[in-house]
Amino acid sequence: MNGNITVRRVGANEASRYIEALADVLIDCVEGGASVSFMLPISRTTAVDFWTRVAHGVARNERILLVAEDAGGDVVGTVQVVVDQPENQPHRADVAKMLVARRARRRGIAQRLMAAADEAARDAGKSVLVLDTVTGGNAERLYAQNASMRAGWQRVGVVPNYALMPDGTLCATTFFHKQLA
Ligand SMILES: CC(C)(COP(=O)(O)OP(=O)(O)OC[C@H]1O[C@@H](n2cnc3c(N)ncnc32)[C@H](O)[C@@H]1OP(=O)(O)O)[C@@H](O)C(=O)NCCC(=O)NCCS
Repeated sequence: MNGNITVRRVGANEASRYIEALADVLIDCVEGGASVSFMLPISRTTAVDFWTRVAHGVARNERILLVAEDAGGDVVGTVQVVVDQPENQPHRADVAKMLVARRARRRGIAQRLMAAADEAARDAGKSVLVLDTVTGGNAERLYAQNASMRAGWQRVGVVPNYALMPDGTLCATTFFHKQLA
């Protein structure tokens, strides 16, 4: 189903090349109603500024950036592993900004990205992963319900009124952790 999709880790020195394409994916997700830190309307400048900061973080090896590309080389999905943590949490990483373009959803791309994120975290010496997502959203189903994804991800609980949806309404957030063997 996702045979034409390639998931790859973006090198420390090539992240800046992905800024425009990743801005497209972010804008598409926010315009589709995803609560991923941004409000509507989201400007291209806001999206490009965000990915520019991410690219700097990748260049400093503070975060690992993974991208999913289709057969034509278009970026259709992404996720990050934030490896730079306080000195008392060297073994932990955050999984952040899982985004799949609306046109490419339900083809297993997020699953592929999560598997790649696990592998990258292990390679970085991490043994505890944490993520949070909108309660009741598609991403919560991705982490909590799908059989292959469920392996290892534990639901910690829900914080009511944690964030805003892009349209300004309050939403709860569910936290998950995964202990890497
Ligand atoms: C959540 C998101 C990343 C899923 O991406 P995706 O590539 O479509 O996910 P997958 O195809 O890998 O789906 C894996 C499983 O997750 C669950 N799932 C994903 N989207 C779902 C949906 N819309 N409805 C119900 N279940 C869903 C299903 O169990 C699915 O397995 P199945 O298709 O075999 O039933 C995507 O919808 C997205 O980018 N949403 C907006 C951004 C966002 O909310 N990101 C999360 C931030 S933490």
